Amino acid sequence: MLLVGVQSYNLPLYEASARAGITVWSIDYDPASSAYAAPAGHFVGDIREVDALVKELRFDVILFNGVLGFGINTASAALEALAAMTKIAAPGALLVVGWNPGRTDNAEIEALRPRLTPMSLPGILAPVEFGPRGRAQRDPHRYEIFAFGGAS
Ligand SMILES: C[S@@+](CC[C@H](N)C(=O)[O-])C[C@H]1O[C@@H](n2cnc3c(N)ncnc32)[C@H](O)[C@@H]1O
Repeated sequence: MLLVGVQSYNLPLYEASARAGITVWSIDYDPASSAYAAPAGHFVGDIREVDALVKELRFDVILFNGVLGFGINTASAALEALAAMTKIAAPGALLVVGWNPGRTDNAEIEALRPRLTPMSLPGILAPVEFGPRGRAQRDPHRYEIFAFGGAS
């Protein structure tokens, strides 16, 4: 799995993933993110250029949470990110998008939708939306699971 964007509060995710047998890499364009690097490896760079950084690896899951509106802030940037992620996705890979409705005009997620296919997984509630949680999270948070490629 590739985690896009890393912060200190992601460290428990690494532990949970290890317990579940999931090998995690990470990427973030902020060099300071290296302090929170995923156990398998970390790339410092823009997700829109991840295909230039990742040579051999192909990912079964790309966790793209909290990036729309936090660095990828336009429809065109979202499409660039998707194009790069598509190149490093293994066949049948899943893209998990966590985003905050209302943080922007939602143009980023709407640009992605025609190029993705909604998916569901047994035992996992998605799409799912959580309400705002006060100052730490002023907007709702929505998780959706997709396959790469449009439905047509
Ligand atoms: C709100 S945090 C979310 C962190 C983590 N993805 C999570 O779900 O908890 C946003 C992170 O994404 C990183 N980021 C934003 N735009 C990026 C981009 N274009 N390429 C790589 N990292 C980016 C930021 O540096 C920051 O660490």
